[in-house]
Order: sequence, then structure tokens, then C-alpha cells
Amino acid sequence: MEASKNLQTPLNFMKDDNVSQECKNLISSLPSEKDFMGKSLFSYQGSWYYPNTVQAILNFQKHFRPRDTDIILASFPKSGTTWLKALAFAVVHRNKYAAYTLDSHPLLSNNPHNLVRFLEIDLYDKNQLPDLEELPLPRLFATHMPFQTLNETLRDSPCKVVYVCRNIKDVLVSRWHFRSKVVSKELYSNNSLEDMFDEFIKGAYLFGPFQDQVLSYWKASLVNVNPVLFMTYEEMIEKPEAQVMRLADFLGYSFTEEEKQSGMVEKILELCSLSNLSNLVANKTGTSTCGIHHHAFFRKGGVGGWKDYLTHDMAKKLDEIVENKLQGSGLKFE
Ligand code: A3P
Repeated sequence: MEASKNLQTPLNFMKDDNVSQECKNLISSLPSEKDFMGKSLFSYQGSWYYPNTVQAILNFQKHFRPRDTDIILASFPKSGTTWLKALAFAVVHRNKYAAYTLDSHPLLSNNPHNLVRFLEIDLYDKNQLPDLEELPLPRLFATHMPFQTLNETLRDSPCKVVYVCRNIKDVLVSRWHFRSKVVSKELYSNNSLEDMFDEFIKGAYLFGPFQDQVLSYWKASLVNVNPVLFMTYEEMIEKPEAQVMRLADFLGYSFTEEEKQSGMVEKILELCSLSNLSNLVANKTGTSTCGIHHHAFFRKGGVGGWKDYLTHDMAKKLDEIVENKLQGSGLKFE
């Protein structure tokens, strides 16, 4: 942690100033690597975090009590988390906000990340024991933790997990743009795409390695301990109606024939679309409960944008690390 002493990051979950003695002891036994700012990252249960996030995960693992109706939305950052949060919120609460054409829908006045909050980089990062009792049912939460880190806590509950993934190349390019928006330039000398590519190849970066996380949820989706729905950003772009109906079916909020006829599916998709959300004042201004400017969550979207940024060689190497990891799992990225 020495190298990070003089640095100030705006994001609490990237810091190391809120860690108990128990957590310090744990951290001292974990593998450690330096990030792009020279700050220490630690590998806990197969994923890399800053110390405050390790503490938040311990808080979550100790104190979170799932309810049967809870829904956890999981993802690797930049894989479509914001979209999934908006869609899941709109689907499960659609009867409550049936009149959202009248501008009354919460998604029109609030960012999806404030309506569906992250467990480890928001709720349990701020508070060892966040008050979750007042949340409307079904409670919706989000996480970037791998499945094995949730598993113990959720094991005895039938609560549902939805995972969204996206191809590693678009994720990397999206993350690179995102980093330049959220991490102050004074904190690092360089934010080159090549450096981020190296991080992805080596595997030691916040919430990485990507391919390990994807595999954890893929495996979990094949066994029926906690029900896990495995979705991809690419399928959501290609067949949004089918995918949102699949999501609704899985969550136990299937669209009725009448709703389908009345255009409810399309209305929800329009409400949650990148163009609609990114143009709302609520998303152009303000900061989310996890400390990130709302506008940073929206850019171009779509599939294959990486081609404008990555060389053929980089793309090949990224595909290789994913293919190697997923070999024999039955999951393939096109
Ligand atoms: P790009 O940077 O490729 O444009 P996350 O929500 O996991 O942080 O992922 C952010 C990525 O999802 C960004 O991708 C962003 O533009 C895109 N995105 C955000 N909201 C979206 C929406 N409603 N529909 C489709 N894509 C969306």
C-alpha cells in the first residue's frame, strides 16, 4: 500500500482507508499486485480488489441475509450492467409504474445504479450493516463479484441471479474509455490502451480476470443450486424483445398475452434504451451512490466497436485467453 500513499482516488471502493484489523490480517495473506496507478490490488477468492472492497465483501458475507424473492444482477464491469439494471427494475415493478408514459417512472428521474445498488462497491462499502429492510420487494441488488464469492451467502435461499456478459474485446475498450472518465488524470502517468491490454492478459485488475468470472457464472447456470440466468449483451442487442421476455420469465414476472399485445415489452425496451437513458437530465448530471458520474455509464454501446481500437494481434490474444479458460465448458463467444 506504500505506493498509493500520496494518491487520492475519488472512488471509495478503490481506497484502503476503511479496513478492520481482521481484514488487514486477511489481506496480508493474500496475493498482491500493483495496478496502473501503483496502488495495491489483492486477490480474494479468485478476483482482484482494493482493500476497501475486500472489507465490503467480508461485510456482505457476514451480514447479508437473502430473502427468497431477492434478485441479484451480476456482471463483469462494462458488460451491460446499467442496461440490465434498468430492464430488471422496469420488468419487476411494471405494475407499480404502469403510467410511466406520464414521466412518473423512477428510471426517468434517477440513474439505474441508484435504483439497483451494488452490494460490494456501494451498500456494504458504505456501511457494515446497511438497512435493506425498507427496499421495495422484490429487492434488486447488483454485484461484480464472481459466483463463488456469493455462493455461500445465497446457498440456502431460492433467490435468483442474473448474469450478463459481453465479449472481452468490447469490454476492454469500454473500460478504457470509462477509466479516462472516472479516474483523475493526476493519479496515473498513462492510460494507454496497450497498458489495459497488458492488464487483461496478465489477469490482475479490479474484478478480473474477466474469463474466470464468466466461467464461474456459466458453471453456476448449469447446475440448479441457486437459479442463475446467463445472458449476453450481444443477444440482447440482437433480439431485445426475446431477451427481455426471457428475463421476465426467469424472474417470475412473465408478460401476459394482453401486455404483449399492448406493446408493454417494446415500451420497456424504449424506456431502457441507451438513447433514451443517456439523454435524460438525470443521467447527464449527478453522481451515483457508488460515487461515479452518471454520464460515465453511457457511451456508444453496440457490438464490435473494438475493431476501431484493437489490432488483429491484440484481438487474437484476448480471444485466446478466453477460449483457453472456457475450453470444455460448452460456452463459446462468437
Ligand atoms: P460502451 O462503452 O461500449 O459504449 P456497464 O453498464 O456494465 O458499465 O457497461 C457500460 C456499457 O454499456 C457501455 O458500453 C455503455 O455505452 C453501454 N450501455 C449503457 N447503457 C446501455 C443501454 N441502456 N443499452 C445498451 N447499452 C448500454
